[in-house]
Amino acid sequence: MGNLTALTKTIRDLNGEMDRALAAAGDPAALEAFRVEYLGRKGRVSELFKTLGGTASEDKSEAGRLLNDLRDRTTRAFEDRAGGLQAAALEEKLLRESVDMTLPGISRPVGHLHPLTLVQREIESIFQRMGFDVATGPEIETEYYNFEALNIPADHPARADWDTFYITDTTLLRPHTSPVQVHVMESTPPPVRIICPGRCYRRDAQDATHSPVFHQIELLWVEEGLSLANLKHVLELFTREYFGEGYEMRFSGDFFPFTEPSVQVHIKAPGAARWLEIMGAGMVDPAVLTNVGYDPERVTGFAFGLGIERMAMLKYGIDDIRTFLANDLRFIRQF
Ligand code: PHE
Repeated sequence: MGNLTALTKTIRDLNGEMDRALAAAGDPAALEAFRVEYLGRKGRVSELFKTLGGTASEDKSEAGRLLNDLRDRTTRAFEDRAGGLQAAALEEKLLRESVDMTLPGISRPVGHLHPLTLVQREIESIFQRMGFDVATGPEIETEYYNFEALNIPADHPARADWDTFYITDTTLLRPHTSPVQVHVMESTPPPVRIICPGRCYRRDAQDATHSPVFHQIELLWVEEGLSLANLKHVLELFTREYFGEGYEMRFSGDFFPFTEPSVQVHIKAPGAARWLEIMGAGMVDPAVLTNVGYDPERVTGFAFGLGIERMAMLKYGIDDIRTFLANDLRFIRQF
């Protein structure tokens, strides 16, 4: 019986030790260490089972029962602790991730398009409905695309008409959108029907009607048999769509190196006293067509360039170009 008494005491001590160890194991790694130490194949409980061999035969079955109880109790205690820890972790995660649906939401103010974008899109859409594609080009240009290809050779006085920001001796910030014409014609055989919206730069001192950064829309139509009459018709359709019925339109002579003849286009609102200049235009100069590899004996074309700011100012009665970029919300919110 001495054997059993000693075993009982060993088991009681071991139970106490394991209870404390389990209570202290607060995370999965500690739990696993506990399992290996006590319940593993070479663990403390298995070691006790090995002593059964040396137990007196009359005590064997009782000792076996005590050891089985020990293993079952330990296994259950281990599983309870593991389950408890898991539940606590889940509880904590749920608590951390809970969302109170009754809290008021955060409203995010949604902006709207800038008046210049609105006007640009409106003009694009008018010409798209007439069959023109929208084309774009780089804002940093070479002298070739900005001047030479447009029939403005180096040292030609007309270069002074575009107060250009140079980046290097031969690259510049484009002062107009006309170079886009050249890019498109170089890569597309006629017919070509495009409008090219985009930002332009000029060394202009800022005042109510000048801004060193502004936007233009260029139009180009090249095909067989086009004349100034077609240009006039397209512009009449555009004016009616954009400004409304009853506007008068007037052409007067002008000069651009890349168009011949060149005209200045004015419009007059119904009942108004003053004519307003809205754009420069003309028949594409044969030299420009030749530069891009077109045959000026076969195709002709016309082009115009208009300022988007100017179109917006005329339409909405804005008297200072600086308001577009001043970011005053009282202005912006009116559109
Ligand atoms: N590129 C000219 C300018 O910026 C405008 C224009 C374009 C004139 C096309 C005629 C034809 O002043």
